[in-house]
Amino acid sequence: MTLKNDLVLRAAKGEHVERTPVWLMRQAGRVLPEYRAVRAKMGGFKQLVETPEFACEVTIQPVDILGVDAAIIFSDILVIPEAMGLPYQMVEAKGPWFEKTIKSADDISKLKIAQPEDLQYVMNAIQLTKRELNGRVPLIGFAGAPWTIFSYMTEGSGSKTFSKAKKFLYTQPEQAHHLLQKITDSTINYLKGQIAAGADMLQLFDSWAGVLSPAQYDEFALKYISQICDAITEVPFTVFAKDAHFARKKMGALSCDTIGLDWTMDIAESRTFIGNDKTLQGNMDPCLLYADMETIKKETQKMLRQFGAHRHIANLGHGLYPDIEVDKVKCFVDTIKEFRF
Ligand code: CP3
Repeated sequence: MTLKNDLVLRAAKGEHVERTPVWLMRQAGRVLPEYRAVRAKMGGFKQLVETPEFACEVTIQPVDILGVDAAIIFSDILVIPEAMGLPYQMVEAKGPWFEKTIKSADDISKLKIAQPEDLQYVMNAIQLTKRELNGRVPLIGFAGAPWTIFSYMTEGSGSKTFSKAKKFLYTQPEQAHHLLQKITDSTINYLKGQIAAGADMLQLFDSWAGVLSPAQYDEFALKYISQICDAITEVPFTVFAKDAHFARKKMGALSCDTIGLDWTMDIAESRTFIGNDKTLQGNMDPCLLYADMETIKKETQKMLRQFGAHRHIANLGHGLYPDIEVDKVKCFVDTIKEFRF
């Protein structure tokens, strides 16, 4: 099926675009009352993720309501640990929680390498959403980067310091590599499954990149991200490593199309580090959307000028916060869609 709006895909490939495209991390979620209504009906986050009809509905909501240039499939990065044999729960007001965590070589040997069939509900949700979108905008698939998934599997929940995950790297480095490789193999299978199901583009989220030193990031994160980039050749691929300032030069050498920036990364400096043959995505501070409309417009236009007309996909520097007003989100999106160089 041909896409009516393929701006995001063209920008990712470095082709000419009439205007800068925009989508938002966490665009489907608690900022939208329509999302909260579906979620209340479903009884919980996991039920939503695991029921293709509802996952499809909330995936399309931001396309209708916010007018973004891409949809991102409603799921979570934690479906991969679960498919490998480590189930998660999403605890109300607390976030993800794992009853069992990975502590030893024996724990690692019991994990399986996930296959697309293990995540059939995601594949079904992608197929259904592609059909329902009917070519309006591209559908983005995603996965967590191996280090971030490793962090949850060893830590068991979110954390400020991820000390248990980091302790694992210092005390059992060989086992850490073994687990990271199993996660990487599972992630490649999963992303290939998403492509087969119809995903037009893929993004890898390395949310906890910032807790590692540059040397550790090379050894325990980039090594695996680079395997995934090399394996995904069919669709445009984005790597977003939050807080990974120190890795920007090396990220420029990955075989992906787009690098996501957070708001603490200077735009011009990032372009110099990453080079001209990658698209940059980002990078507005989500907290700007607490400001008044005038300020949002002015700062958004400033960001667009700093990135320039070529090879930019506008986004936030991390996901939307749940208490941001929908009108402010629309103001950000509309400012980008109205802007011309
Ligand atoms: O719109 C989209 O961006 C697509 C959906 C999406 C979700 N999670 C839905 C979600 C995506 C891309 C993710 C990725 C994800 N999940 C990441 C990487 C991106 C990032 O934010 O750094 C991470 C680290 C997770 C793990 C996770 N899932 C956490 C820490 C939480 C709790 C956060 C919170 O604010 O409560 C989740 C839950 C989650 N995933 C929600 C949504 C919409 C909130 C669940 C709810 O409805 O209560």
